[in-house]
Formats: sequence, structure tokens, C-alpha cells
Amino acid sequence: MREQLKRFIEQMEENSVAVIPAAHEVTRSYDTEFKFQQDPDFYYLTGFPEPDAIAVIDPKNKKSPYTLYVRPRDPLMETWYGRRQGVEGAVKNYGADRAFSIEKFAADLPKLLDGHERLYYRFAVDKALDQQILQYLSGQRVRRLKTAYPPHTIIDPTIITGEMRLHKTPEEVELMQISADIAAEAHILAMKKVKPGMNEGQVEALMEAYMKDKGASGVAYNSIVGGGDNATILHYVENNMPLKDGDLILIDAGAQYKGYASDITRTFPVNGKFTPAQREVYDVVLDVQLKCIEATKTGNTVKKRQEYSIELLTEGMVKLGLLKGKTSELIKKKAYLKYYMHGVGHYLGLDVHDAGRYFIDQEAKHSRPFAPGMVLTVEPGIYVPPDDKTAPAKYRGIGIRIEDDVLVTEHGNRNLTSKVTKDPDEIEAIMARNRR
Ligand code: GLY
Ligand code: MN
Ligand code: MN
Repeated sequence: MREQLKRFIEQMEENSVAVIPAAHEVTRSYDTEFKFQQDPDFYYLTGFPEPDAIAVIDPKNKKSPYTLYVRPRDPLMETWYGRRQGVEGAVKNYGADRAFSIEKFAADLPKLLDGHERLYYRFAVDKALDQQILQYLSGQRVRRLKTAYPPHTIIDPTIITGEMRLHKTPEEVELMQISADIAAEAHILAMKKVKPGMNEGQVEALMEAYMKDKGASGVAYNSIVGGGDNATILHYVENNMPLKDGDLILIDAGAQYKGYASDITRTFPVNGKFTPAQREVYDVVLDVQLKCIEATKTGNTVKKRQEYSIELLTEGMVKLGLLKGKTSELIKKKAYLKYYMHGVGHYLGLDVHDAGRYFIDQEAKHSRPFAPGMVLTVEPGIYVPPDDKTAPAKYRGIGIRIEDDVLVTEHGNRNLTSKVTKDPDEIEAIMARNRR
């Protein structure tokens, strides 16, 4: 049994059972599917890579606390759609105490769940499975005067898995460092290769090819490769425009390595040399980013770091002439939202926007303190809309974000993505060396 699953069981309440489903394949069009992406909680607890599986965790069952329901072996299906572990592989290769065909799951529910007071199950993710669970519950209630005792309390298991996933083990940090290194090297490659006339999609392609070549399963999310004012569109993923001399390019791309994500953004000049106006905005964002990395440490909180980024960026916007007035007033009025409309960072792990709560009470008054083992991104940005009549003309259409992945440690932090420079002079030097 995987270490993570053992620790999950230790935290389950008395007399409880957990049902944790894998993801399903998602139709892309007609009879083709998107590349399969496993459910991160299921993957975290089981390591099982296939779709259409369900883990049932029943600590009361001393002989077989861990049951996996999986797709059965099927020569015809495997010839068409790929190999399956089947029930034998689930036990032999993935440590299940016993395994059955997924086709038996619905009929087995009374046997699996009856007699437990609590059920760990996350509703509203998998509608078909929700329906099976609801049918089981309503069926058993009808029979309540006889011998059926369905669970009376349903608990969302992410209460446990979210906390576990938020605090990375040394083994997880090692995988995240590899993911970060691969993505960092892909960004360096982009700095070396980008030149005017290239298409955004070509840059995307060469970075993704590099990541796979280095052992990543692919990208951690759709890469954002935006030249010129495409950089002011936060989730620009069309990546199909030519890169122009004199423009900046913003690349937000990360790798997925053994399930773990990296998430890096770099912004640099397409022709290798920042214009004075681009450099002015860049220097503001870089200064804020360095200070916010420094603020990502034990003792500080997620909320305080966010407020700090707002304060620093608002000061920067005033300095640049994007905003006019007193910083404190501008913050109160949220004037910065015009140019900085996202958070300064998020948890990172199996998901790019990883599990774990940001606030530890209902009223959102107590923001979570940083603690060793947490990994967060630090990604301030300034985005000036191209048609913004109030901004100095020289800044219109400039979008800059700089993003690194930072591990909180006992005595500060470690930048997992420091391998790719963000120093503007060094970026220019790399670009100059590679275009001679
Ligand atoms: N790449 C997604 C993000 O930065 O949050
Ligand atoms: Mn991010
Ligand atoms: Mn990003």
C-alpha cells in the first residue's frame, strides 16, 4: 500500500469507508478522446494510471482495507484502445488487497458501505457515480427496518487529501524539482530561438518537444505564448500569431513530470533588446516579484503576501504614470485591478492550481500561514490594454508577467525555477549570443 494511502487511512474517522474514483476519458470529437488526465486525488492515493477505476478504502476490513475496481482485461478493447492492468495487475503492480471488475461496483455497494457510519465521498464531480451512490442510499433507506445500515454522514475526502497534498514530502519535492528544471530549460531554449517572423505556435511546439524529450509526459496546462498585446490576455492559448520585431513575447509554460506540475512565465523582447518603455515596466514587475519571493516564507500568510503585491504594484503603477493619486487611496478604490487583476500566486503540485485551502475559517479572516513543504508560484504582472486612453502611449499593449515556483523551507524558501534567468541584461545576453 502506498505511503499516502496509509496516511489517509490514519486520518479517516472511526467506522468510516471511502470511495475515491479515477477520472474518465473525455470526448474530444465524435469517437476520439482528449489525452487522458488522471484525477489527482485518486492518483495521489493509489498511483493507478487508468480511467474508470474506483478505490474503496475500508479500514474496518482488516484483511482487505484497500479494494480497487478496475476495467477488466479485454483482448479486443486492448487491441483497439491500449493495455489494461486488469484485476491481476491492480493487485500485483499497484498494491490493492483485492480487485474486481468495475462492472460489479454498483451491485457491490450495499456490501461495501453498509454498516459504516460515515462515507468519504466527493459529490458533484462524477455525475454517474453520484447517481449510483444516491440510488444505493435511497434503496437502503427503504429497507431500514430490516437489516440495512447505510452511512448517516457523508464527508468530502478532500478535507484530508487537500491538506496532505498541500504539504509536500521530500520525495514529492524531488519530482517537482525535476519538473521545474525541465520547464526552465525549455524557457531558456525559447530565449535562444525566438526571433521576429516566427509564429507563436512554433515557440510552443519547440518548448513542448523539449519537455517531452527530457522525460515529461507533456505540458502541465495549455501553454500561453503571446506576442505583442496578446500578452495582455491572461489565458491566451490560441498561440497562432506571428511574432513582431519590437514586441515582447510572454510565455507561460510548465511541464508535467510523473504527475507533478511546474508553472513558469518569462517575458522578453522578440528581437533580443528591450525598448526603454518595455524595460521600465519590466523593472517594476521584476522588483515586485523578487520582493514577493522574499515574502513567501514561514510566518507570513497567503493573504498578507497578496496585499503586499498589490501595494508594491500600485506604487509601481504610480511611478510609471499608469495611475495617478495617493497609493493608499488607489488601493482602497482597487484602481490597480485595471492592470493587475489576478492573484500573486497559487499552490502548485499534482494540479497546476493545486489542492488545499487558502483560508482556514469560514469568514476568510484567517489566511493560511506559509509552512515548510508548501510550494507556491510567485507571479505578479502588469497588463496595459492596447486601447487604454489613460495610459502613457508608450506603455499601451505591454503585458509583462514573471513567474517562479517557490518551496517554503524551515528558514526561508527555495526557488525551484531559478535555473531560467529573469534578469533583463542576462536575457539580452543569451539572445545576443544565440543570434550571431
Ligand atoms: N499557468 C497558469 C497560472 O499561471 O496560473
Ligand atoms: Mn501560475
Ligand atoms: Mn503560469
